[in-house]
Amino acid sequence: MADAGVQVPAGLRSSAEIMEAEDRFGARNYSPLPVVVSHAEGAWVTDVEGRRYLDMLSAYSALNFGHRNQRLLDVVRSQLDHVTLTSRAFHNDQLGPFSEELAQLCRLDRVLPMNTGAEAVETAIKLSRAWGYRVKGVPRDQAVIVTCEGNFHGRTTTIVSFSTDPVAHDDFGPYTPGFVTVPFGDVEALRAALADDNVVAFLVEPVQGEAGVIVPPAGYLRAARELCTERGVLLVADEVQSGLGRTGRTFTCEHEDVLPDMYVLGKALGGGVLPVSAVVGRDEVVGVLRPGEHGSTFGGNPLAAAVGREVVAMLATGEYQRRSAELGEHLLGRLRAEAPPTVREVRGLGLWAGVELVPEAGPARDRCYRLIGDGVLVKDTHETTIRLAPPLSIEASDLDWALDRILKVLH
Ligand SMILES: Cc1ncc(COP(=O)(O)O)c(C=O)c1O
Repeated sequence: MADAGVQVPAGLRSSAEIMEAEDRFGARNYSPLPVVVSHAEGAWVTDVEGRRYLDMLSAYSALNFGHRNQRLLDVVRSQLDHVTLTSRAFHNDQLGPFSEELAQLCRLDRVLPMNTGAEAVETAIKLSRAWGYRVKGVPRDQAVIVTCEGNFHGRTTTIVSFSTDPVAHDDFGPYTPGFVTVPFGDVEALRAALADDNVVAFLVEPVQGEAGVIVPPAGYLRAARELCTERGVLLVADEVQSGLGRTGRTFTCEHEDVLPDMYVLGKALGGGVLPVSAVVGRDEVVGVLRPGEHGSTFGGNPLAAAVGREVVAMLATGEYQRRSAELGEHLLGRLRAEAPPTVREVRGLGLWAGVELVPEAGPARDRCYRLIGDGVLVKDTHETTIRLAPPLSIEASDLDWALDRILKVLH
């Protein structure tokens, strides 16, 4: 971090003025930490006054490849000189190859591109229901989707209908029916829920990110796969946050050698440049949709598809997954070995950690504030947990630099 007291060049607004404008004229649906970023490169960001910070959150894994990754920016620049948007009324020369390359990366058959993670989840819900009625033979409007307690799948009215977080859920009803919730990680509860013949899908985050980086017990995903197969239920893995290298494999499901019927992807699929999401699934499932039944003006646009292709190509090298696994072992190893008694638990997988404080340690947010002063950006979740998800491209020395400061602030 540069020295405090740096002057803002004449004509530009200070961080304080910019935050004031946002607070005065913006909706108050977030409470961001008080840093106003105006420039970023790799794992580092710079604020309006020129102070530098190490980004240990990477936009909740949307920046897996770092800020302004040059490979991705080159693709964007080149695509801007060709075509950016066609809508799906016509073909574009990027979507077909993107679909082929992403399907191959996922070892699945078909891709349905959208924009945000929530839209992709909505898409997976519609696909599951349509598959239930047209293939499984569930009576019309009776389909049930099983979800998990503590889930986070986005913010639409249907998705918040099955959120168990009162902040996300309450006051936004009436709610969409057709969802039941089971405890995350509980195989027997899942088995019982799947006994209902009208269940069409089990929608699950392989690691629950927003809940505080909750890793299920070993064998849970494998057991879920087996139960779903046994009961003729789709396994839908929402890897919007856990996928694309974050946990040391391309997909978290791979840790248990599981192939879901559908992946829901987003965040890093857009390379930190623009929103790109997709559902990738088996032919029998994604293939149920007929023309006109679903879509998006921007879904599959050539700029997004070009960025997505480059993301797929970068992941195909395995380099990011390797970095995530190696650096993640170091991250979790240091946190677990050096954490003071203020820390109740360190959870995580790959380059992703949830550091849960004991209640007496006070709010996690206070520690995040203090880390800003040390030039490290992290984020609290659910009052007691600090979330760490640096870009997978972070230098090992930078990671240690941040860890030194985080461990000091935890003391
Ligand atoms: C697992 C998961 N699914 C879906 C979403 C929603 O994505 P978006 O914010 O792009 O709508 C998120 C966002 O954090 C997520 O973590």
